[in-house]
Amino acid sequence: MRKIILDCDPGHDDALAMLLAHSHPDTDVVLLTTVAGNQTVEKTTRNALNVASLAGMQAPVAKGMGRSLTGRQSTAPDIHGESGLDGPVFPPCDLNAIDKHAVDAIIDALTASDGDMTMVCTGPLTNMAAALMKEPGIVRQIREIVLMGGATYFGNKTPAAEFNIFVDPEAARIVFDSGLPLTMIGLELTHQAVASPDIVEEIRAMDNPVARIVVELLEFFGHSYREVFGFEAPPIHDACAVAYVIDPHVMTTRSCRVDIETKGEFTAGMTVVDLYGVTGRRPNANVALELDKRRFWELMLNAFRSYGG
Ligand code: BDR
Ligand code: CA
Repeated sequence: MRKIILDCDPGHDDALAMLLAHSHPDTDVVLLTTVAGNQTVEKTTRNALNVASLAGMQAPVAKGMGRSLTGRQSTAPDIHGESGLDGPVFPPCDLNAIDKHAVDAIIDALTASDGDMTMVCTGPLTNMAAALMKEPGIVRQIREIVLMGGATYFGNKTPAAEFNIFVDPEAARIVFDSGLPLTMIGLELTHQAVASPDIVEEIRAMDNPVARIVVELLEFFGHSYREVFGFEAPPIHDACAVAYVIDPHVMTTRSCRVDIETKGEFTAGMTVVDLYGVTGRRPNANVALELDKRRFWELMLNAFRSYGG
């Protein structure tokens, strides 16, 4: 059983990551934390609570950082809508966030743990970096950080930068330089995880309350990806991070040096991946390369099926 803290900014694909993490018998979500990213932190927190309530998650939800470490805010209404989770209407939810900031909740959960916690980060890395700055000793309590973010060759927010890293490059640099075991699941991997019409129909046929919401999420997300990027179907980026924690064989990875560009005029937020080891510098990340699509979709479909119907 892997104990995880899921630090997220729901977000359509974050929601799917939550549903996978909650339903799989090998993962125990001990804490859910939210961060500004796809929308303001007020909205991502509301969305996390709605998804948690729908799924019957027991984990506490803690609201986190509303701006990047340097005080900026950059959201993605073009992809995720005004609410950050446009599409479905969620059933009434009476869950509330706990009365503790996510950064403190992360520190406390790690401090209380046996040093075996996995951090799964599917939004900007502001909470994670702030926790490392506030309580550097937590590095001893973290087994691994698995994050969705970055790209080896190209970006989606700018030609060079992927959204999560672009939103808070300074935070990303702190996390990548922390010396912790880290797996970076970037766009080259997540763009292999597209929810094709066949997959959506398979989920629709499950006909359970969670599957019905998932279909509506995928329909909205699919529309955004068609309009903005010209994709035929939407990539469910963040679910790949949880899938990797459950089954590392779901993708191949390569150990590389990754540096974060914080200042570039055209490249701020870029993950500079030394894929061929040309710098001779010690690797600091496992970079995801190839997805085993059959294995991945088996995990996802079983997850949605497990909610009944
Ligand atoms: C990442 O950005 C967000 O829009 C998604 O939720 C995902 O975490 C993809 O670049
Ligand atoms: Ca996300």
